[in-house]
Amino acid sequence: MKGIILSGGTATRLFPLTATTSKQLLPVYNRQMIFYSLNVLIKAGIKDILIIVAPEHSGQYLNLLGSIFKDYGIHLYFEVQKVPRGLADAFIIGEKFIDNDSVAMILGDNIFEKDFSKEVKNFQSGGLIFAKKVKDPERFGVVKFNQEKKAIRIVEKPQQWISDYIIPGFYIYDNRVSKVAKKIKPSKRGEIEITQVHNYYLKQGELKVSTFQGEWLDAGTFDTLLEAGQVVKEKKIYKNFDPLIEKAIANFNKELKALAKKKLL
Ligand code: DAU
Repeated sequence: MKGIILSGGTATRLFPLTATTSKQLLPVYNRQMIFYSLNVLIKAGIKDILIIVAPEHSGQYLNLLGSIFKDYGIHLYFEVQKVPRGLADAFIIGEKFIDNDSVAMILGDNIFEKDFSKEVKNFQSGGLIFAKKVKDPERFGVVKFNQEKKAIRIVEKPQQWISDYIIPGFYIYDNRVSKVAKKIKPSKRGEIEITQVHNYYLKQGELKVSTFQGEWLDAGTFDTLLEAGQVVKEKKIYKNFDPLIEKAIANFNKELKALAKKKLL
């Protein structure tokens, strides 16, 4: 399975923090936010990962991640999304990268405590997305279940309450997903919505929606960014990283320190 991290966008809700860098490069406790989504994919055993970034931040991503995994068997690829057209655009930008494989896509500002290796390993076809009960469902893509706990309706940011279960930013789809994404028309807010992808697979009877245990955070506002740092520290999520990422970060820090020392001499 291939992996995609969608890490572009303008993040206007975080101005002026995001006037100088990308939201997903802001710190969440002791590391940049993007490491949390990288960890989810790497922990799940995914070795080929496409990172989609906004043009104005591409250099910063390359500085941080360009060589960090080169000795660890993880291959990172980068693409630029010129305009933030919507989440489903990731599958269009990533079409060639996905090729004949299935793909796990994660949003660069979503933080998960859960280990998704089993779900990734057991995935065969169709779509697998997840659901979490929250207090403010109107901010997200929302899923309604019937009495048998089967998903029956998915709506992006519903104006009227339909359910407390929202769909966090981690999605697994088979390789039909790029074709599906290409057919989506922009919504009222002008985006090609991931919810349309979910609804396509739901209509085909090929979408599984699973609830899950563990923390999930969307670090898109000042309050949720602060909360993310606190939860990561308190629940020690930062200590639960894949050893490979830990090693890569430690090595990266060592190189930086050595460089800093040289400059001082
Ligand atoms: O966080 C989960 C929610 O993410 C889902 O429940 C919703 O169904 C989904 O639409 C999305 O909602 P948001 O309104 O939170 O999406 P946002 O515009 O904040 O974008 C999510 C991330 O993706 C953010 O880090 C920026 C990035 N992004 C967004 C767009 C629209 C891109 O890189 N490119 C884009 O074109």
